[in-house]
Amino acid sequence: MKGLFITFEGTEGCGKTTQVQLLAERLRALNQTCRVLREPGGTPIGEEIRHTLKHSAENRDMTAEAELLLMNASRAQLVREVIRPALLAGETVLCDRFYDSTIAYQGYGRGLDLSVVKAMVKFAIGDVCPDATLLLMVPLEVSEARRQNRPAGAVPERDRFEESDRDFFLRVEQGYRAIASAEPNRVQVVDGVQCVAAVSEVIWRAVSPRLPRSD
Ligand code: TMP
Repeated sequence: MKGLFITFEGTEGCGKTTQVQLLAERLRALNQTCRVLREPGGTPIGEEIRHTLKHSAENRDMTAEAELLLMNASRAQLVREVIRPALLAGETVLCDRFYDSTIAYQGYGRGLDLSVVKAMVKFAIGDVCPDATLLLMVPLEVSEARRQNRPAGAVPERDRFEESDRDFFLRVEQGYRAIASAEPNRVQVVDGVQCVAAVSEVIWRAVSPRLPRSD
């Protein structure tokens, strides 16, 4: 596909959402057409699914299987409604999480059969794959501290994922490490403990050589 597709991954509090925005600003300053998306979400249907997954008062008893299917329902919609057409039109697409999150969270974290998880992902994404993935890693202690130190009012709603226990997040982290070592050409691990500006520079060095020329 003509456009460049870059995904951002990592556990809670790794700083990826800030970095997606910083990269988008930098690209726009260079007159690059770029689209910022998030998963789950990114379409009207996907945002409803996101609410069900994360915030709904009715989601406390959600099974891991239902969670896997909903993540991929949101993704199937996003890929066909937005990502694929944008890439075909030559746009740069930045996505805050994509299928590696499903491998790490539903596969490693929830312990669902990895071959089933991968088959579901394949069904959801079709032929759309990231050109590059930036995986921001922070130790669990840093992730926990950042979550606790959020400014008052920054997270107005309850988040079902944040109610998970420490062991769950340790398994997610292990999942991400396994993904990174299996696909070193696509996945670049970035030390997310550094200051925001330093992380942003590392990301820029990884992304800028891949950009289409704007002249
Ligand atoms: P975030 O947008 O704040 O990162 O929240 C998304 C949450 O959803 C986060 O806890 C990770 C989780 N998630 C999965 O468990 N599987 C997935 O496939 C995706 C995209 C997200």
